[in-house]
Amino acid sequence: MTLSAEDRDLSAPGAARRDFLLLLSGALGVVGAATALWPFIDSMNPAADVIAAGAPIDIDLSPVKPGQQIILAWRSRPVFIVHRTPAELEKLKAPQNLRLLRDPNSAVNQQPPYARNWHRSILPEYLVVVGICTHLGCIPDFRPKLGGSLGRGWPGGYFCPCHGSKYDLAARVFTGVPAPYNLPVPPHHYLDKTTIRIGENPKGSAWEFASIEQI
Ligand code: FES
Repeated sequence: MTLSAEDRDLSAPGAARRDFLLLLSGALGVVGAATALWPFIDSMNPAADVIAAGAPIDIDLSPVKPGQQIILAWRSRPVFIVHRTPAELEKLKAPQNLRLLRDPNSAVNQQPPYARNWHRSILPEYLVVVGICTHLGCIPDFRPKLGGSLGRGWPGGYFCPCHGSKYDLAARVFTGVPAPYNLPVPPHHYLDKTTIRIGENPKGSAWEFASIEQI
């Protein structure tokens, strides 16, 4: 399946769902967001039916520029990977932003132990989360820009338009919204500096994705 440039534009509200459906319907690979898009269907991965059955997926992140997000399908779920900028990382630690969050220290089991830290990931620059809202299962929109329609205090993150849940750029849920938990972090590790394997823990970790509190 070939995705048109318009089909791949995840910056439009609601586009994430459409593109995710396109991915699931046969376009094995990765779709970029914001201004640049890559149909980099890599040859490292097994066949689509093997991936659907739960095999790990290897992705080369080197084309993903700072500030951009890609979405891929793992175990029939969307996985968001964001290359966070240094400024975005600073916002994850700002006390005025931490006060907005329900579980700022990732106390609830929504991530493996190796991602239970201030950036909820292995490498600070890359966020890796399952993109399913913990309220009723919609796919939140990527809203990395400050302010805008989400108000002057919006630090950038995810907005779920169906019932208004918000998450920051570590996918930590805000207080006062219907979603109860942070977005889950799937098992993952790095094969080298920019190649990530989704679906497998680093050596020495036996963490089970099925143990999380809630998808
Ligand atoms: S499903 Fe996200 S706010 Fe309801």
